Amino acid sequence: MKGLFVTGTDTGVGKTLAACALVHALRARGLRVAPMKPVAAGAVATEGGWANEDTIALARAAGPGAPALEAITPVLLREPMAPHIAAALEGRAIRLEPLLEAHRRLAARSDFTVVEGVGGFHVPLGEAFDARDLAAALGLPVVLVVGLRLGCLNHALLTADSVRAAGLRLAGWIANRIDPAMAAADENVAALAERLAAPLLGRIPFQPGADPAALARLLDVSPLLKKGSESFPTK
Ligand SMILES: Nc1ncnc2c1ncn2[C@@H]1O[C@H](COP(=O)(O)OP(=O)(O)O)[C@@H](O)[C@H]1O
Ligand SMILES: [Mg+2]
Repeated sequence: MKGLFVTGTDTGVGKTLAACALVHALRARGLRVAPMKPVAAGAVATEGGWANEDTIALARAAGPGAPALEAITPVLLREPMAPHIAAALEGRAIRLEPLLEAHRRLAARSDFTVVEGVGGFHVPLGEAFDARDLAAALGLPVVLVVGLRLGCLNHALLTADSVRAAGLRLAGWIANRIDPAMAAADENVAALAERLAAPLLGRIPFQPGADPAALARLLDVSPLLKKGSESFPTK
């Protein structure tokens, strides 16, 4: 099983944009890529029924032959709020095993899965279960999207520590310029390059409405495809 778990320094830092760009970059290598957004909170009405915007973006990035929206996102919650709270509102509980099963199905029909995490790495999904537990159970290497803004150094370093503490490998990180007014952005990227023991896969400029297919050219996915960089079971 090959794939990635895309996490971020926070919610709204560009995980979906970066995950879509990664899907394009991996497809450009000739791989059949299945995206997944296992749990999504916030549903919008579409012609085909209720769906989440991240799910739709990921399906679009996967192109022809993309999995069905329900396969990409097995747990769709109505309200855009912390997932365990959105689930409780609906009288539901998020369980790990169905998410793993849904991932196995996607992995069986693809060469590579790109799994967008929910919020940041410690976001609770249930009473004793969070995004980090999901990543660990999937056993996928992690890509960290750093939303460049004040505070991102602390968030990035805490997340990297937590990835390792979960027994997972930080396979790379992406610097995403979400705040055009951020001072010393390059110096922040340099500070992280010195401290994160993982390759910088690319820098995404501030570009509202960016096309993830075009951004894919800014990402170097080769470190993710190196031999020995496969996923591995951890627990
Ligand atoms: N580099 C960028 N330049 C401009 N806008 C961006 C950039 N990265 C993300 N955004 C915007 O910020 C918002 C959050 O990005 P998104 O990828 O949905 O983050 P996440 O998945 O981490 O919640 C979206 O509206 C997105 O279009
Ligand atoms: Mg997202």
